[in-house]
Amino acid sequence: TKAWRGIIEEYRDRLPVTADTPVITLLEGGTPLLPAPRLSQLTGCDVYLKVEGANPTGSFKDRGMTVAISRAAQDGAKAIICASTGNTSASAAAYAVRAGMVCAVLVPQGKIAMGKLAQALVHGARLLQIDGNFDDCLELARKLSADYPVALVNSVNRYRLEGQKSAAFEIVDTLGAAPDVHCLPVGNAGNISAYWMGYQECDTRPRMFGFQAAGAAPIVRGEPVLKPQTIATAIRIGHPASWDLAVRARDESGGAIEAVTDRQILAAYRLLAREEGVFVEPASAASVAGLLQAREEELVSTGRRVVCTVTGNGLKDPDWAISGAPAPMTVPVDAHAAASALELT
Ligand code: F0G
Repeated sequence: TKAWRGIIEEYRDRLPVTADTPVITLLEGGTPLLPAPRLSQLTGCDVYLKVEGANPTGSFKDRGMTVAISRAAQDGAKAIICASTGNTSASAAAYAVRAGMVCAVLVPQGKIAMGKLAQALVHGARLLQIDGNFDDCLELARKLSADYPVALVNSVNRYRLEGQKSAAFEIVDTLGAAPDVHCLPVGNAGNISAYWMGYQECDTRPRMFGFQAAGAAPIVRGEPVLKPQTIATAIRIGHPASWDLAVRARDESGGAIEAVTDRQILAAYRLLAREEGVFVEPASAASVAGLLQAREEELVSTGRRVVCTVTGNGLKDPDWAISGAPAPMTVPVDAHAAASALELT
């Protein structure tokens, strides 16, 4: 066995790179496809988690960023810009460091998780908080990239989706074929579109199930949401850029795009942590909340092979882990006191 080389070297012939492309990589991809025994038991399906929090910056965004930044470097870009609910900016900031580029990021003020803010800052990004939501940030980033010498690396940059499709390649490599059903959270709708592209290129197709937060579910409602609301800040998006592609993925695959409530998202978040040993951020749990709902509605029948993508690492947004748990006890340096506090006696 040889060491994983990052998605560009692993899948070079299936990605839009040339011999001249400088490969800017943090060795992203190669993430675990983890069997989920408790979820399998609960659903009567054969459930796996694609654990994207294991990527270098803790989310699936690294797959798209390696391709987008490598191509930007090939084109001689000196600066990149993105709008973000936090993960794209964390990834862009880290890859910009590797490429020696300036990174500018626009985030919705007060609506991104602390860990993600820390990532953009520690990697030296120029960060602006915008007095608006993600959709406003994206519009502004598009304008700036049109009028100033700065390359846009949001998923409207086609190289992003091309990179993100590599997750589908890995799943097919591991399982030998697509699962019957693939569940994932939907925000700006790039990832569901990228997976569908990847599966089609492998000539093996699951039904694609996407899940939006109920307060930010424009595709489910069929119209943009002006004031999207959800505790899952990563997918707090009212006007997804890849809307049409996501609808095509849904319809061509015979799948569905549905809404799950914040309550369902938090229940799935806790279940993943306490019963599967997997700590994800709240938005990531939408895929699992969605699978549970789809089973209840009999949209998915028993015995199916299911992959749920869990998109980001729980450490990025620990507030929900802490607020849901009892405050830790303090005891003196005393074995008896510790044993009794731990209920070992
Ligand atoms: N899960 C996480 C953890 C995310 O950060 C995102 C998107 C999604 C799911 C949804 O994926 O947008 O392709 O439908 N985050 C973007 C960002 C918007 O700026 O980090 P999508």
